[in-house]
Amino acid sequence: MSALQTQVVIIGGGPSGLLLSQLLHRKGISSIVLERQTRSHVMGRIRAGVLEHGFVNLMREAGCGRRMDREGEVHAGFCIAHQGQLNRIDLASRTGGETVMVYGQTEVTRDLYQARDAMGGVVIHTAQNVQLHALNDARPFVTWELDGVSQRAECDFIVGADGFHGVSRKSIPADVLKEYEKIYPFGWLGVLSETAPVSDELIYARHERGFALCSLRSPVLSRYYIQVPSTDQAKDWSDKAFWAELKRRLPADVAAALQTGPSIEKSIAPLRSFVAEPMRYGNLFLAGDAAHIVPPTGAKGLNLAASDIHYLYHGLLEYYVKGSCAGLDAYSEKALARVWKAERFSWWMTNLLHSSPDGSETDLRLQSAELDYLFSSDAAQASMAENYVGLPY
Ligand code: FAD
Ligand code: DHB
Repeated sequence: MSALQTQVVIIGGGPSGLLLSQLLHRKGISSIVLERQTRSHVMGRIRAGVLEHGFVNLMREAGCGRRMDREGEVHAGFCIAHQGQLNRIDLASRTGGETVMVYGQTEVTRDLYQARDAMGGVVIHTAQNVQLHALNDARPFVTWELDGVSQRAECDFIVGADGFHGVSRKSIPADVLKEYEKIYPFGWLGVLSETAPVSDELIYARHERGFALCSLRSPVLSRYYIQVPSTDQAKDWSDKAFWAELKRRLPADVAAALQTGPSIEKSIAPLRSFVAEPMRYGNLFLAGDAAHIVPPTGAKGLNLAASDIHYLYHGLLEYYVKGSCAGLDAYSEKALARVWKAERFSWWMTNLLHSSPDGSETDLRLQSAELDYLFSSDAAQASMAENYVGLPY
């Protein structure tokens, strides 16, 4: 079997892997992306919707920002619904002008694939049984099967961007890796519908029946979520039951204005906080969901993947352009410092807005006090806004 030669093998053709290969290619650094699924499967996944300005800038730097800048919506604030009232968090005025961009992960992925195609980037789909080898050697290699035929690629570095269930993290010896995990006793049931969004800005709702979120993808495409027990299954929720439950959790005027319609996607995402340390083992670097998961409240998952890619890209640039290992050596520590802060924010916002099935009356009063404090304190709103738009890289 003859081996392919490249500088970086990237495992996973999700947003992390595609973005890194695109950034590297523009600097003349070669890579191969190995993806287990078909391209249409990857593009069909409905996930995140809110991009921090750091991610937006990275997409532009990758030469993939044109459609995003044209079609994405800049949001300068969002609302928190509580006890029938909407409380607006003004992102721009609280952060010196920072905003977020509403542009779906599906569109980000489409733009990245188009850019990879245009540059002749190598993305190998339906790569089965991917395995990582010789991680502590100067020339590690990766093997996989394509249509039953064994393949091999040799490289300088392997990047594990293969998500939470990928093979990369599992290739690090158990006595080297420390995993931190918290599983929440509820999930988010999400519905995508071809209806006009109920609000121009996102509404995060805290309600005793459970959390709800009104989000959007475009003026004609809405995304809604409700908190459900983690034992629920999407198939057991009819569209009618979903809309009725969503309305119950929203302020009356918002519920009255809600336009309902058939769901074009419906799924349940579990809520988990997870971090694996370190994010480097030998010449393997983990990035994105392969190394960490946040609960979705606050929309940090995809954005954290982008900050990992930023640090890793600059580390690889330093190595190939200046011959310095300093950036790569600092990668794990730098990335983890930002990861833990986003973990903290997502955990805090989850606790602020969800009903805990085993929460006591004391927990409820503390949650109410936290919300009261947030709505009455400029400092608390500034802190929330600073984290929501994204901490600096
Ligand atoms: P992924 O997008 O998971 O990409 C990893 C890729 O690796 C996948 O394409 C996978 O097929 C591939 N792969 C896996 N194993 C292998 C293997 N062995 N060999 C080769 N390839 C492999 N974030 C938010 O901010 N807001 C949300 O609303 C939100 N909703 C989500 C809903 C769900 C169901 C999930 C799973 C995640 C959600 N997230 C959300 C998180 C966000 O989508 C992720 O943080 C983001 O996708 C991370 O990108 P990634 O490229 O690191 O990983
Ligand atoms: C969306 C998801 C989130 O987790 C969030 O906090 C905001 C928006 C979304 O899918 O639109």
